[in-house]
Parts: sequence; C-alpha cells; structure tokens
Amino acid sequence: MSNFDQAVERRNTDSIKWNHYEADVLPMWIADMDFQSPQPIIDALQARVSEGHYGYGHDNQELIELICERMQRLYQWTVHPDEVISLPGLVSGFNVACRAIGEQGDAVLVQTPVYPPFLSAPTNQQRRLNIAELVLQTSNGFLDYSIDFDDFKKKIQDKTHLFILCHPHNPIGRGFSESELTQMADICLQNNTVICSDEIHCDLILEGEHQPFASLSPEIAQQTISLFAPSKTYNIAGLGYSFAIIQNPQLKRLYKQAMSGIVSYANTLSVIASLAAYKYCDDWLQDLIIYLRENRDFAVNYIQQKLPQIKTTNPTATYLLWLDCRELALDHPHHFFLNQAKLALSDGKTFGQTGEGFMRLNFGCSRQVLTESLDRMYQAVQN
Ligand SMILES: Cc1ncc(COP(=O)(O)O)c(C=O)c1O
Repeated sequence: MSNFDQAVERRNTDSIKWNHYEADVLPMWIADMDFQSPQPIIDALQARVSEGHYGYGHDNQELIELICERMQRLYQWTVHPDEVISLPGLVSGFNVACRAIGEQGDAVLVQTPVYPPFLSAPTNQQRRLNIAELVLQTSNGFLDYSIDFDDFKKKIQDKTHLFILCHPHNPIGRGFSESELTQMADICLQNNTVICSDEIHCDLILEGEHQPFASLSPEIAQQTISLFAPSKTYNIAGLGYSFAIIQNPQLKRLYKQAMSGIVSYANTLSVIASLAAYKYCDDWLQDLIIYLRENRDFAVNYIQQKLPQIKTTNPTATYLLWLDCRELALDHPHHFFLNQAKLALSDGKTFGQTGEGFMRLNFGCSRQVLTESLDRMYQAVQN
C-alpha cells in the first residue's frame, strides 16, 4: 500500500505548482498531485536513464499494443494499433484537432466553465470560439451542471465543424452520462460535426465507470478524435505523453497532416514511464482512488459544515472541487484567498465567464495539506 499521507517536499524542485507563489502560500491550484509516482515508474526511468543514450526514438509498439489491450479490457472498445497516434501533450492534441478540422473562421464549440486552454485553442488556430454554457443547478445540496440541448444544437448549427468535449469534465468533476453523451453525439452526427473528446481524467473515477465517447457506437467512433494520457493518473505530467485514437482513416490523415512539422515526437522517457504505468501500476491506482475518495469526502463535509456560504460540487471523477464563492460577496475571491488565507486556488473566471466568483481546489494532496488549506479558508472567511 502506498503512503499517500507522506508529504513530498516539492518546493525546491522545478514544480510550477509549488514555486509559482511565495513560500508561505499553500498551492491547491494546477491539476498536479503531490504524490510520488508509483515505484515501477521510478525504477523503469532509472533503468532507462542509466543506459546513457537519448537519441531519437520511434513509436514504442509495446506501449501502443498495451493501450489497445487496455481499451478492450476496461471499455470493451476494440482499437487497432494503427489507430493510435502518440503525442507530446494533450493540449497540443486538441490544438491539432482545431487546426485539422474546418477552415479559417469556422467555429469550434466548447462547454463552459471549462479547462482554460479549451478557450484559447480555437483562436490559436484561426477558428472562432463558440460557447455552449453548461447550466448550473443544485442536486442533493451540491453544485452540478446540465446541458441545454436546444442551445447546444443551435451552436452546433452555427458553422461549427468541431466540438471539444471534456469527459470527465474539468472543473465540474464528473463524466457525462450515457444519455447525455448520446444526445450530444446525435446532434453532432446530424450536423457532420467532428468531436474531439479530451478524456485525460478517465482513470480518476471516484464513483461509477468511465465510458469513452467513441465507444458509444461505430458511427460515433468514425466522427471522433479521442485524446487520453497517463499523465494525470500517475503524476507524470512533466514528462508529457498523451495519445490520440482516431478510427476514421480520413480523419486520421487530416490530423497527421495538421501535426506535420509542428508536433514533435513523444519524449523517450515519457514513453518508458507510460509503459511502466499501464503495465505495472493498476494496484497503485486502486489505492490512489481510495485515498482521493476519502479526501473528497473530508473536504466536502468540511465545507458543508464550516463554510456553508461556499457551495461545492461532490465530484465523482477527478481530484478537483469546484466552489461557488459568490455568497461571500468578495470583489476578487482569488486575491482574497491568496492574500488573506495564503492559499492559491485556481481562479474560476479563467474557466470562462460563468466561472466568475468560483474557485477550483485540487485535493490531490496529503490529508494534512488538505486540512491545512481548508483551515486557512475557514480562518480567512471568519476574519
Ligand atoms: C481536461 C484537461 N486536458 C488537458 C490537460 C493538460 O494536458 P497536457 O499537460 O498533456 O497538455 C489538463 C490538465 O489539467 C486537463 O485538465
């Protein structure tokens, strides 16, 4: 059993999470966990580093086959090795999708609030950003969001050839249900809109199961670019490996063409780490999920009992809590918690206009750090 309680000192490393703010600030922002990566990954990296040569690699067939086997085992989804494209990062992956699909001036649809790079990817590639806002609601006392399908359809019909889906969704902390996925898929199929499904958080499922968007039906798979990565799950994001699965040959050709000359090979060490992650780290992941579940329950109970002015999600996926701080009537919640609580949370307004007044808290840390962060919030609000 891994010891997730053990604090890992990251302040004097190159960690952006721990070094972006002053030393007295507790960082609960960027989606990067504080836990040490599983031992098989460390061992595999050490063995590879000791080889002493780091020239260009080529696609690692063992990893690609492991990915296909994993999709079959976890989701009963048959993927062939030639449908997998290695990438150096998932944000690059959806930027490439924006570049590959449609033409200058066409729209790309995203659902807000959402992981901020979704908002810049379309304009990075001379596309127009089209937004379908998720609808805020309360369910059993917790924040949740639903999809306004009429609005979704209207936005898709507005010259939108690409829709970037976040599933499970960051920051709302859940995967979409089969019914939600099917309704979105039907609208996209009817309008010939390609779906780029970012499933980077698919292993971090706290309740229920993940269903890949493309695995819904062969028709949907033909119109989907799916993006995955082991980076969030095993805390190897700094190494940068992710992959696309594209089952439609024409779409795959367009995608590869858009990558050409711009997107480099996946880093050799990232491939070694990913291979070890998918091969040897299932038990570690199971233990991680148990720990994250307990962290979630602890944080959610704490907020409900001691900070009732803040409304929270009760995430069933990811290690992210989305907090509605509007009742506190603060001019700038991010500055308030940074200055008064010495706590760095992610500023909700960077997730789109509807995130104004919200904050995101990362609970992928030891219980001790989580408790300290909530105590700091409580003290600042009391004062
Ligand atoms: C939904 C989502 N996609 C992509 C990323 C980042 O991917 P990468 O670091 O591989 O570019 C994140 C990181 O927080 C994320 O939450």
